[in-house]
Amino acid sequence: MKNIILIGFMGVGKGTVARAYADEFKAFAIDTDDLIESMENRKIKHIFKEDGEAQFRQMEQKCAKWLSKSVDNAIISTGGGFFKVDNLKKIGTVVLLDSSFNAILERIKSHPNAEKKLAKRPLLQSEKEAKKLYKERSSEYKKVADVVVNVENRTAVEIVKEIKKLVTKL
Ligand code: S3P
Repeated sequence: MKNIILIGFMGVGKGTVARAYADEFKAFAIDTDDLIESMENRKIKHIFKEDGEAQFRQMEQKCAKWLSKSVDNAIISTGGGFFKVDNLKKIGTVVLLDSSFNAILERIKSHPNAEKKLAKRPLLQSEKEAKKLYKERSSEYKKVADVVVNVENRTAVEIVKEIKKLVTKL
């Protein structure tokens, strides 16, 4: 599979980078949360509320199976917990977008649609809990990543160029 799969914490900019990459290299950008929302015909926050997180994780796994069987040459952005699916490496080259927790919060809060960005993420409702999750996941993300790109204070175009450079070298 020649896909590139972007992983990383909520709000780090996976969707933005995927779209910038797609634009630069004329590839299709796919987002796992969008796929799940379309399969379920409801928003992630409603899936969490109505079915719970465990069910959502099963939907991510179903999505991962479909991606590994059916998608090639795409840039794939993922939900922050998607990296735990059991076939991640079969989907494509795994690129971690890395940033400090404070820079992520800053990025979300300074967005013109900040309230909406926060409201749609059930696991970002408490800053304290989110920080705990960030700490737990930090080393796990690094363990599965083929490539790590620091995204702090960089534009999407700069990040895209670095991804291309690093992935080509593999
Ligand atoms: C989650 C991240 C969200 C979404 C869901 C769970 C997580 O995606 O998949 O709310 O477990 O980190 P973003 O990373 O796009 O916010």
